[in-house]
Amino acid sequence: MKKVFAVLIACLPALAYAAGGNNEHVVSANIDLTDKDSLKRGAQAFMDNCSGCHSLQYQRYQRIADDLEMTEDEVSALIHTDAKVGEQITSALSGDNGAQWFGAAPPDLTLEARLKSPDWIYSYLKTFYVDKSRPFGVNNLVFPAVGMPHVLEGLQGTPVLQEDGTIVATGGALTAEEYDQYVRDITNFLAYTGEPVKLERERLGKWVLGFLFIFFIVAYLLKKEYWRDVH
Ligand code: HEC
Repeated sequence: MKKVFAVLIACLPALAYAAGGNNEHVVSANIDLTDKDSLKRGAQAFMDNCSGCHSLQYQRYQRIADDLEMTEDEVSALIHTDAKVGEQITSALSGDNGAQWFGAAPPDLTLEARLKSPDWIYSYLKTFYVDKSRPFGVNNLVFPAVGMPHVLEGLQGTPVLQEDGTIVATGGALTAEEYDQYVRDITNFLAYTGEPVKLERERLGKWVLGFLFIFFIVAYLLKKEYWRDVH
């Protein structure tokens, strides 16, 4: 028995590592899947900044439109390629080009929030910092030696790693709070694409609770009715 425990304890650090890698810099994303406005903003921001390189091949525009109750204009604003609204979200970049240009092909992100967690994505987008030794001039705290350029630098500003380990960005189009919300919206959207049924489950959940409530009242009244004659 003791041996089994010893082995289990020895494995713990490995398990913790497998769960997330460099977790020290991961902070809570505080996303809210019921916030449709945030999801809509996130969808638009993803299409504008990320879809050139990353696909969402298990997700269709139409599905997003339905789930997020988008108007026709809102949906067509999402589509930057000649794709039809019923098609999957592919990126313009082919895997081979991606690997050649960036050293690693930009992966499909449909399931990224389930692979890495929303908190990880949020932290990843917040921890790019200037590092002249890297090919794109930036590095990342949660993804060391990353092959992705800091595509949101224009919005965040130039992020400089301070001595105390924090990152301060200056000269961006957004304030620090606005940038946090911007990447939170993208993260929220990616959490949704990883698990679209979650939205449905929450909708259904309300109906189920409502049904149980009414059923309870009916059952209670019936019980009263039956026992009236007995007493
Ligand atoms: C210019 C192309 C390009 C753009 C635009 C781009 N990325 Fe990337 N991204 C990459 C590449 C290349 C990698 C792979 C990096 C590596 O493996 O070193 C990557 C990796 C990632 C990863 C980590 C994937 C993993 O390995 O688990 C995430 C998350 C991600 N990108 C999110 C985004 C988001 C969100 C946006 C939009 C704000 C975006 N990317 C825009 C090229 C891009």
